[in-house]
Parts: sequence; structure tokens; C-alpha cells
Amino acid sequence: MIPYSTQTIEDEDIDAVKNILRSPFLTCGPTVTDFEEQTASYVNASYAVAVNSCTSALHIAMMALGVTDSDRVFVSAISFVASANCARYLGADVDFIDTDKFTGNLDVNHLEQMLIDAEKQNRLPKVVVAVHLSGRPVDLQRIYELKIKYGFYLIEDAAHALGAIYKGHKIGDCFFSDITVFSFHPVKIITTAEGGMCLTNDETLYRKMKLYSSHGIEHDKQFLINKDMPNFYYEMQSLGYNYRMSDVHAALGISQLSRIEDFLSKRRELAKEWEELLSSDKNLTLPPADSNDSVSSWHLYQVGIPFGKRDFVYNTLRHRGICVQVHYLPIYKHPYYQSIKNYPSLPGAEYFFERTLSLPLYPKLKKLDLQMCAATLLGLIDEKKL
Ligand SMILES: Cc1ncc(COP(=O)(O)O)c(C=O)c1O
Repeated sequence: MIPYSTQTIEDEDIDAVKNILRSPFLTCGPTVTDFEEQTASYVNASYAVAVNSCTSALHIAMMALGVTDSDRVFVSAISFVASANCARYLGADVDFIDTDKFTGNLDVNHLEQMLIDAEKQNRLPKVVVAVHLSGRPVDLQRIYELKIKYGFYLIEDAAHALGAIYKGHKIGDCFFSDITVFSFHPVKIITTAEGGMCLTNDETLYRKMKLYSSHGIEHDKQFLINKDMPNFYYEMQSLGYNYRMSDVHAALGISQLSRIEDFLSKRRELAKEWEELLSSDKNLTLPPADSNDSVSSWHLYQVGIPFGKRDFVYNTLRHRGICVQVHYLPIYKHPYYQSIKNYPSLPGAEYFFERTLSLPLYPKLKKLDLQMCAATLLGLIDEKKL
């Protein structure tokens, strides 16, 4: 089977993990702090909080921004459910932003219209979650202008986008946003097995997220509410969770981060190979190439299949051992979301979903395998054979 994505683990990753297993700290040790500092430095952000998944990162990001059950949150419609669930954990009212029909990234014109309507109803969102789908940056400049005009917080869901660059800014530097989150699940750009991280330049948000990631407990004397307490003393200041990343996972993360440029250039090279092999077939819609303003991390290579053929192509490729994937069903179509509200159907998101397939793309994918996958796909798209 050729997967759509998988991890790249080398001996040095295994050695890094072994070293921690032989060290005094499996968790709550210095390796997590090192990983936080190295990632923050890589993306040019001031602060980082490592946690046990991107889902946890999204949850504590929402908490730090003060989201409650009286708030509204707008979320890109094409994403993994976690992008919206984090707001639901806090009881917020979630609405979905339509997406570009070719990239699946949020449609800024639709966001603007939603904001105009929301202002008229006096129900502006507290937070907007913008997803850099497949690693391609959303138009942060335009979203930022709306953020200033309408006063919402912006979370960048960059689960796919570690290493992507927008107008010279590494995704994660939070130049346009309040918080950015990354995922380190095995299919992502780097992995810690399970893991995630929140990045921010705001010290108050950082301190809150740090607290929420570890039971709401403060140890640092300078931040205690009760002063002049004995040395053993720590206090719980708010209701938090155990979302901590372990040092074992962080060691894997550091080892992986040291090779991120290799991972990114391999992904870029393979994306170019896909483009060269598929561009002759005008029935397929290929993802836009990188430009000066927008450099993708190429987490996914997503192509548009002619209408009505996507499921046939999906089933046949899988039957032949090519494990393509669909990213994603619009979130509002999941039974849970249908059960809580009568969500409108969004034309851009529906168009993207109906046609899109994610093809295999990961650093270890061999060019010969990619060429075989391309030939199989092109054979299926050929009108006569469909
Ligand atoms: C866009 C997006 N956001 C959030 C998540 C959640 O990440 P994690 O699996 O690390 O919790 C994912 C996972 O696939 C994702 O694709």
C-alpha cells in the first residue's frame, strides 16, 4: 500500500528518544522547553506552549482568548473537525466560512459578508479560525484588515503548515494573528507521534495557555496569587487540563525539527513532479504553484477530479493499493453539527469537497512510485475508461 502520507523516522530520531528514556526526566523536564524554544525560534514567534495534540492546542487557545457559551466563533468550513470542536468545548456558537472552490482555503469575501451581517445583528464573532489547508497560506493580510475593522481574535490553524511562508512571514510568527497552532501527528510536516503547539507573541496569552495546559497550576513564585507561602507551595488558579507534552515526545520533535528543511524541500520536489506528470490532463484541477507571496509546506497534494467521478477514482485507486484520501467533508455536514443547528450549504466548500482527492505525498515517497500512481490516475481519468 502507498499511503497518502506517513512519518519519516531515522536512526537519529530513535537515538534521541532512547536518550530521554535513559535520562531522569520522561516528562516535565527540560526537553519540552528546548522543543518550545527551538520551534518558536524557527517560526520567529516569541512564545510557544507544547501540548499533547493540536486539538489540545486549539482548546487552550480558545480558553486563553476567553471564549464562552455566549460567544460566536467563525471557522473555515473545510477542515478537520477539531478546528471547530475547540469552540464547541466551551459552548460557543460556531458558524462556518465558505472556502475557495479550488484550494479549500477560506474565502475572505464570504468572511467579510458574514462580518457585515453579524455587525448588523450585533453578533460579531469573538474568534475566527483560519485553516492553512494542505499547507497553503490563507490571505492573512486581508483577514488581518478585517480583524482590525471588526475586532475579532484570529487563530491560525496551521496543523498542516509548519514551514509555509506568507509574504515573507513564516507561518507561526503570528504577525497577523493572536495565536497559531501546529500538529505533530505522524502524517504532518514533523512528528512527535501525537503532539501540538501554540505559538504567540502575547505574553498574557502565553501564560494563560501554559496554565491551562497543566491543570491551571502555577508553580512560579512571582506569579502566585497567595504570596509568602512555603517553598513546597503551588496553587491552582484556574480550571485546566493535563495536556502536557512529555519529554520523550519533545525529543522526537527536536530531532525532527533539525531536518525540517530536508522534509520541506523533498515535499516541494515531489509536488513539482506531480504537477509535471498531471498538468497535461485538462480534466484535472491542480493546486496553485508556489509564488513569492505564498509558499506552501505541501502537506497535501490535492487535485480536483471531474464531477461525479471522485468516488470511483477513490475506490479504484485504493483497490490498487494507492491510499488516496478525502480532506475534508465540510464540517457542518457531520451529524453532530447537523444536530445542533440548521447550517446553510456553502457552495465553495461543497464544490471543493465533491471533487477533491489527496494524492500520496511524503518525504520518503519514491519518484518511481509517484510515477506509477500518476499513470494509474491518468488512466482512470481518461474519458473512455470512466
Ligand atoms: C486542520 C487540522 N486542525 C487540527 C487537527 C488536529 O490535530 P491533532 O491530531 O494533532 O489533534 C488536524 C489533524 O489532522 C488538522 O488537520
